[in-house]
Amino acid sequence: MRSNGLIIAIDGPAGAGKSTVARELARRLGYVYVDTGAMYRVVGLLAREQGIDAGNGAQLGELAGRLAIRFEALADGTQRVLVDSRDVTAAIREQEVGEWASRVSTRAEVRERMVAAQREIGGAGGVVLEGRDIGTVVFPDADVKFFLEASAAERGRRRHHQLLGRGEAADLRQIAAEIEGRDRRDQAREHSPLRCAPDALRLDSTGLSAAQVVDEMLRRCRDAERARGARQQKP
Ligand code: DC
Repeated sequence: MRSNGLIIAIDGPAGAGKSTVARELARRLGYVYVDTGAMYRVVGLLAREQGIDAGNGAQLGELAGRLAIRFEALADGTQRVLVDSRDVTAAIREQEVGEWASRVSTRAEVRERMVAAQREIGGAGGVVLEGRDIGTVVFPDADVKFFLEASAAERGRRRHHQLLGRGEAADLRQIAAEIEGRDRRDQAREHSPLRCAPDALRLDSTGLSAAQVVDEMLRRCRDAERARGARQQKP
């Protein structure tokens, strides 16, 4: 039962600006924001720390099944990510953890557990979920679906800027190569590959500001909210 509002899915490749717009869209709608990439990053981080092979599906699945991942909203609109009460917000953003996340997310055993957790968090509605497979697998009947893209060059520049902002050393060419490698792996994997759902609205954010993208998304969401309200009023 979706008593709290719509389920909104935002999918797309790394660096397309999903997090920024998803967070702002959720804020404007008064919805909960769920960063599903952060969940795969947590599995990647712990697998690396515990010396689990990125190809060992059984062990990774077991790890994913026992993690208690929590999101805690902060007053400034950002979120803390906690796993078993440990704050991993900064650790999961490291470039290398992104690589691990992409690798462990190819395993069906990991995906099964993450998808189940995401359905539990978002099932009641009033959520904006951001990821790679939200509109295709996690919530194929989501009320509004977006597929956010940007050129590879633009995505590389944004990631580079982000890393420099956090004081991390970053080489633009290396980042671009990593983004392309991650795209290939995310699109080519056997289980839930990154692809645009047939009923998703494709948006290309190259050359657009985050505010412009959010405005367009908000228009679509308001339309969907109105349509749902009208349906519910029918006898
Ligand atoms: O969005 P991100 O860069 O934080 O995601 C990290 C990795 O997690 C990404 O390379 C692929 C994976 N992922 C996924 O497979 N499915 C999702 N719904 C979200 C992320």
